[in-house]
Amino acid sequence: MPIDAAHFRATLRLRAASVAIVTARHGERVHGMTVSDFAGVSLEPPLMLVCADKKSNTLPVIEAGGNFCVNLLATGQEALSDRFASKEHEWTRFEGLACERSESGAPMIPGALASLDCRVVALHDAGDHVIVVGRVEAARHAFGEPLLHWNGSYRQLVEKAR
Ligand SMILES: Cc1cc2nc3c(=O)[nH]c(=O)nc-3n(C[C@H](O)[C@H](O)[C@H](O)COP(=O)(O)O)c2cc1C
Repeated sequence: MPIDAAHFRATLRLRAASVAIVTARHGERVHGMTVSDFAGVSLEPPLMLVCADKKSNTLPVIEAGGNFCVNLLATGQEALSDRFASKEHEWTRFEGLACERSESGAPMIPGALASLDCRVVALHDAGDHVIVVGRVEAARHAFGEPLLHWNGSYRQLVEKAR
């Protein structure tokens, strides 16, 4: 029996997810949004995917510029995640952020746990989303713990005692 979107969303909320900000550049235009639907796909060649809502304003910048940078957020970056998810802050998301440019030109979010700079190699239509596949051209990472999202709120890792 088919399930409706609300039931599917409620079920997906139970998946613990790492949170990232995906950024992109097309000419002088930069944009970015918070995502949790991203994954490594292949090691050779190094490929990543990001699922972008067709209604998102980041998607056309990724498509036009042919690049994106996945910035894995660290614990403590909840406010940045909220800012890059909020429509209220849509045109001021980068204000006050000293972003370096990745090789592709996409902004790298300061304090991120990792930044993976990708060149778009494929776009797959997938319902109300587009699966964007990119070849990872550069990657850098720092030490720290990831920001997690589970059941509608932010979480952090806790090491289990053995
Ligand atoms: C924790 C979290 C995860 C999200 N994951 C995604 C995602 O994987 N793909 C997506 O298209 N939107 C995702 N969103 C929603 C976008 O961040 C949100 O719709 C944003 O306003 C889109 O901005 P834009 O239209 O300027 O691109 C997520 C939001 C949050 C808070």
